[in-house]
Amino acid sequence: MDLIGQLGAFEASAREAIRGATDDTALEKVRIEYLGARSGKLKDLQSLLGTAPKELKPVVGKRFNEVKNTVTTELDERKRTLARPKLAAGGLDVTLPGVAFSVGRRHPLSQTIAEFKDITGRLGFTVATGPEIEDEYHNFDALNIPYDHPARDPLDNFYLATAEVGTEKTSGQGKVIRMMRSQTSTVQIRVMEQTPPPVRIVSIGRVYRPDAIDATHHCMFHQMEGLMVGDGVTMAQLKTVLRSFALAYLGRDVQIRFRPSFFPFTEPSVEVDMSMDAAGTRWMEIGGAGMVDPNVLKAVGYDPEQVTGFAFGLGVERFCIRRHGVDDIRHFTNNDLRFLRQF
Ligand code: PHE
Repeated sequence: MDLIGQLGAFEASAREAIRGATDDTALEKVRIEYLGARSGKLKDLQSLLGTAPKELKPVVGKRFNEVKNTVTTELDERKRTLARPKLAAGGLDVTLPGVAFSVGRRHPLSQTIAEFKDITGRLGFTVATGPEIEDEYHNFDALNIPYDHPARDPLDNFYLATAEVGTEKTSGQGKVIRMMRSQTSTVQIRVMEQTPPPVRIVSIGRVYRPDAIDATHHCMFHQMEGLMVGDGVTMAQLKTVLRSFALAYLGRDVQIRFRPSFFPFTEPSVEVDMSMDAAGTRWMEIGGAGMVDPNVLKAVGYDPEQVTGFAFGLGVERFCIRRHGVDDIRHFTNNDLRFLRQF
C-alpha cells in the first residue's frame, strides 16, 4: 500500500477505536496504540515519510499532519464526552448548552392601551368594558340616534344575522338587532345603566366599520371612550382632561384644538384635532367629544336636572401613529415581525 493509503487506513481504524472506547482507561490505551510517542502507529508512519519520492513529499507531509490533527481532536472530544455525568434514560443533561428563548414583546397597540389606562388612571378614571357584539339599542337608540339617522345605514355597519334573544332591550323597530359595535360610546350606556352617578370611566377597545381599507382607514380599529358624569361637570373640565391626556401621551410640543361639531348623544359637541408639527401647519382629527345630551341621561334613568357630564371618543391608532411615526395603520394588523420588533 502507498503511504497515502496507509495514512487513510490509520485514520479510519483510529477513529473506530476511539468511538469504541467506553471509558477513560480504554481511551488511554487507544491513545498509546495510535499516537504514543515511542511505539505508536503514527510514529511508525512518520518514520516512513522519508521514503516517499521527492516530488510527493509535500503532499504526503500535508496529509500526515491532517490525519494527526483529526485523530488528536477526536480523541480529545471523546475524552470530554466520557467525562460528562452519566444520565438516566430520558434524563436531562444539564451540561448541554441551553436553548436560547427569544423574548416576545407586547403589540404596539397593547402598549399604547396600557399607557392610556395609566394616564387616565392618574386623572381619576377607572376602566370599564363592554361587548364587541352589541345590539342596536346600545349602539344607537340609547345614544339618541334616531331610527332614520344615516349612521345606521347597513352599508356603514356590520349587522349580524343572529337569532333574537329576548332578554335585551329592543331597538326602535321592536326587534333585537345585533351588530359589531361601531363606537365605544355603547359602554357609556352600559356603565350608566349599572351605576348611579357620579361616574368617571374610560373604555378602550375595538370598533368595526366597513370602511375601504387604506393607509389611514381600517374596518377594525380602537377607540378610547371617556365618560364623566356628576354634579356640575363642565365643558371646561372636558377640555382640560383631553389636553392633559394628549400632553401626557404625546409630549409638551403637541397642540390640541376643538372645532364645533354635532353628535346626537352630545350637546354641545366638538371634534378634536392634534397638531402634527411644531408650527401647527398640519392637523389630524383624533376624535369627538361633548357634553352628554340630556336625552342620553334620561335613557339610562339619570336626572338631567341633577347631573351633567362630558364624553369623548378618541382613536387609539392615531395617537400611536403620531408618537412613533408609523405611516400606515395596516402595519398594526399585518403581523410582520420586522415591524412589531421595533416597539
Ligand atoms: N362615538 C363617536 C365616534 O365614534 C365619538 C364621540 C364619543 C363623540 C363621545 C362624542 C362623545 O365618532
